Amino acid sequence: MNRNSLTNTNKFLVLIGLGVLLALTGCGGGDADPAAAEITAPVFGGDETGASYLGADRCLNCHQQYTPEPVSKYLASRHVQPGTVDAGADPACLSCHDPLGDGPMIAPWLSGVDLPPAGLAAVGCENCHGAGPQHLTMIPAHPNSEPDFNACGQCHTALPSGPAGHIGKLTEDILAKYQASAHGSSLLAGITLPLCARCHSDQGFRAYGPQTVGMEGAELENALNGAATVANPAHIQCRTCHDGHNGELRAQAAPGFSRQFNLCAACHQVFLTTTFSPTDGVYSYLLDTDKTPFHGSLDDSGRPLFDGRVIWDTHFPTEDGRIIGYRVNPAAANACTLCHDPHAAINW
Ligand code: HEC
Ligand code: HEC
Ligand code: HEC
Ligand code: HEC
Ligand code: HEC
Ligand code: HEC
Ligand code: HEC
Ligand code: HEC
Repeated sequence: MNRNSLTNTNKFLVLIGLGVLLALTGCGGGDADPAAAEITAPVFGGDETGASYLGADRCLNCHQQYTPEPVSKYLASRHVQPGTVDAGADPACLSCHDPLGDGPMIAPWLSGVDLPPAGLAAVGCENCHGAGPQHLTMIPAHPNSEPDFNACGQCHTALPSGPAGHIGKLTEDILAKYQASAHGSSLLAGITLPLCARCHSDQGFRAYGPQTVGMEGAELENALNGAATVANPAHIQCRTCHDGHNGELRAQAAPGFSRQFNLCAACHQVFLTTTFSPTDGVYSYLLDTDKTPFHGSLDDSGRPLFDGRVIWDTHFPTEDGRIIGYRVNPAAANACTLCHDPHAAINW
């Protein structure tokens, strides 16, 4: 990053200078920040408790060293990269696009990007993690270490009509749709047993999902037998499906299977055999009835028994070609969102 490219107001220069000083002196890795006591005046206003916002530059200076991964993801995200709205926009727009006004001090951290002449508008660290001073006095006990759906919902709520970027099925009041969905309202979210929490809660999925990818029901039971119980599990929510820093889905694509398919099917289990046709360049799929999903069972003839808790009996063809329900293309980027709204978790 080139600090000399900084061309913003003195206010930012002073604060950034302080941030550099902190980076040199303050990152004691667990100690209180010695400069914390010097921070008396709110720089970007305060929150409802009176705690003042420091601006993302302070966080970036220290976290670039301690947690480079979330920092680089954050800097590459739509929350930071220049969009259509810039720092000169109507304050009514900036109330979501840059509520603190700290976008311009984040700009010098971006390299190789054309910055808007009126200044960068960006969502700052504190918009999700809460106001800063506690971040400095109680390291590493930061105030809101895992922002929940309420934090995201401050902005991903009913959007003003008009701007082109607000139009589209997925963007219309995500918060309200999510809260009414099966994911956001399930009565089963509080189960602490790791096996159930793995699919029924946020913490369970983030703790045990990645290490149990692709396991059928019995394998899952084995793998999570004796695993630590999940403390205070909460509903499946924004941070369960999206990475908090770049917004990407928490799953990987594989040949014949899109990232979205793999995310949904990590809990809505189904196992498929694939055949690739080099002439058409497409995959075809059949239900693999040798592998049974956690909530699934087979009837006497070896066909999936209908059970409302699984999609393998309603969305996929069996060997005899019969299918009750809706054909899914697992390779498609919109494998599930072709028919389902992922936030409402009902059909469009
Ligand atoms: C002076 C250095 C420093 C500054 C400034 C700083 N942090 Fe931290 N922060 C740390 C360290 C060290 C950790 C512990 C990292 C680890 O566990 O690997 C941490 C941890 C965190 C965590 C993880 C949750 C936790 O409680 O462990 C979050 C979230 C966080 N910081 C956010 C912020 C935000 C937002 C700001 C700006 C308002 C900020 N930090 C400013 C040093 C700092
Ligand atoms: C859009 C909201 C959002 C913004 C902006 C954001 N975070 Fe986070 N952060 C989250 C969420 C959600 C989690 C918990 C889930 C996770 O780890 O992805 C988290 C977790 C963390 C953690 C602990 C986990 C880890 O990956 O080390 C650190 C440290 C952290 N954030 C630092 C920062 C810093 C520093 C900034 C600004 C440079 C920042 N965050 C900006 C939402 C955000
Ligand atoms: C302070 C307001 C604010 C908060 C808080 C916030 N966002 Fe955003 N988010 C935005 C804005 C504004 C955009 C569009 C930015 C742009 O493209 O110019 C956006 C874009 C996104 C995108 C990309 C959308 C796309 O079409 O590609 C995702 C995904 C996203 N946010 C998820 C989250 C999640 C998850 C959280 C909570 C962890 C969160 N946001 C918190 C304001 C916010
Ligand atoms: C309530 C919060 C909120 C307000 C107020 C708001 N936006 Fe947005 N805006 C968002 C969110 C969230 C997104 C990301 C939408 C998505 O992809 O889901 C977004 C996306 C956009 C986009 C597409 C991304 C880009 O940067 O090109 C444009 C354009 C946009 N907004 C313009 C505006 C304008 C102009 C105003 C003021 C009239 C405004 N917004 C007010 C929350 C808001
Ligand atoms: C592999 C992931 C997975 C595991 C493990 C899992 N579940 Fe489920 N469960 C689901 C999914 C997905 C649904 C919703 C399916 C649907 O509605 O189509 C569900 C639905 C349910 C329902 C019905 C909810 C309703 O509102 O109709 C109950 C009850 C239930 N699970 C209990 C449990 C219990 C108890 C455990 C632990 C022993 C558990 N589940 C383990 C994924 C899982
Ligand atoms: C069950 C998983 C899941 C949950 C929970 C979830 N999302 Fe999403 N979200 C998705 C999927 C899938 C997409 C489609 C994008 C894709 O496939 O890459 C998406 C898309 C988005 C987009 C981009 C919209 C667009 O126009 O492309 C935003 C913004 C977003 N989500 C924000 C949120 C917020 C905020 C929350 C919490 C209130 C949330 N999501 C909860 C799965 C989820
Ligand atoms: C972390 C695990 C998990 C992930 C990931 C997940 N779901 Fe779910 N989903 C569940 C559970 C558990 C339920 C049942 C909640 C209840 O009723 O108690 C559910 C319920 C649903 C329902 C309502 C089912 C009914 O019978 O009414 C739909 C639809 C749905 N999910 C679609 C999706 C889609 C689409 C995706 C991917 C974007 C997805 N889910 C990702 C666990 C998950
Ligand atoms: C071609 C359209 C289509 C596609 C693609 C699709 N679904 Fe469905 N899905 C439906 C319909 C229609 C229903 C029945 C809804 C109802 O009865 O209200 C349904 C029902 C469900 C249910 C409720 C339980 C059940 O078996 O009926 C879940 C959970 C679900 N879908 C998840 C998913 C997931 C996860 C994906 C992606 C792997 C997906 N769906 C892809 C159309 C589709």
